[in-house]
Amino acid sequence: MRGLRQQLRVSQGELKDELNRRLGRSYDKPKVSRWENGREPIPEDVAAELTAMTASLPHDARAIVLANQKGGVGKTTSALNIAAALSRSGRRVLLVDMDPQATATIALLAEGGVEAYRQGRTMSHVILGGASLPAIVIRAGEELAHGRGPPFDLAASHIDLAETDGRREPGYDVALREALEPCRSNYDFIVLDAPPNLGMLTWMALAAAEDAIIPVRTEPYDTMGVGLILSTINKVQRRLNPALRLAGILPTQYGRRKSVDREVLAHLSMAMGEKAPILEPVPDSAVFGHAARNGRIAVETSPTAPAVLVYVRLAQALAAGSPLPRAEADLIEPVVAELGE
Ligand SMILES: Nc1ncnc2c1ncn2[C@@H]1O[C@H](COP(=O)(O)OP(=O)(O)OP(=O)(O)O)[C@@H](O)[C@H]1O
Ligand SMILES: [Mg+2]
Repeated sequence: MRGLRQQLRVSQGELKDELNRRLGRSYDKPKVSRWENGREPIPEDVAAELTAMTASLPHDARAIVLANQKGGVGKTTSALNIAAALSRSGRRVLLVDMDPQATATIALLAEGGVEAYRQGRTMSHVILGGASLPAIVIRAGEELAHGRGPPFDLAASHIDLAETDGRREPGYDVALREALEPCRSNYDFIVLDAPPNLGMLTWMALAAAEDAIIPVRTEPYDTMGVGLILSTINKVQRRLNPALRLAGILPTQYGRRKSVDREVLAHLSMAMGEKAPILEPVPDSAVFGHAARNGRIAVETSPTAPAVLVYVRLAQALAAGSPLPRAEADLIEPVVAELGE
């Protein structure tokens, strides 16, 4: 309760007055104090009113980065589906494509990506050219010549962004964080899609985020690289961005019936221990490729497919600020027991 009151920036006395006014009660200040230190339970209507009061506050977007230096693990698929699920639940979403391959941009704009570049509206214009980020955003539904309108706001990418890696300038690794500042109050969530390497663009994305999610395929060689991205996150936390939190490792293309996949998941879980939660795996499913071939996002085309529902549940937890769904113990424990024998 104290946390909520601090968000509201009011004293105990001011909070008491506001609650009495809204609920027609006559609580006194010591009552608020007893709720805060847990000596008395908070009545349900007071709790609901407090939640409503904080929800209506202007607040800053939470930035979530999908990162892993390994290619093809589902970073872009996860970024697109999480962004689409958040947006469908009414959240204001900006997707920032930080990958020079521009996979997310092409998925969302098709040929319109070329037009975005022609108009000077890509992340390379921001990071290399000093354009302001709000000026380059392509708004939800805004149709560019030869292309489609994205279903949520998009900061597009272009191959030029690759030049970032050769640039030297003071504090360059926090350039994205700085660029996002004027956008923060316009969104609830900013989703950052990172490229498949541990270069400057990945550092920038990690330095700008509050939450990092690491998509990993449940393939033996893929999980071996997890240590590298984790140690990068650690360095970014220490040196650039203490607010960064490792939200979890997201197993993708998971085959529940494949013993290799189950073993890899169990190994990963043992290796991580308390270091990182293993999130509910996204099953291997044709819906993602199918949606992509039609220039769509699976959350839009197959919202009830089991694999898509994993992203929907993940987005719901993010939106509610609750713990992210974890891999169920029954996926992991029997295999851990077997391996331990
Ligand atoms: N759960 C899944 N089941 C089946 N196929 C998937 C799944 N998730 C992603 N894919 C497919 O795997 C391929 C790689 O996915 P994606 O582009 O999201 O990975 P990435 O990590 O962003 O790749 P890159 O490192 O090149 O940016 C795509 O063809 C995508 O459709
Ligand atoms: Mg990608």
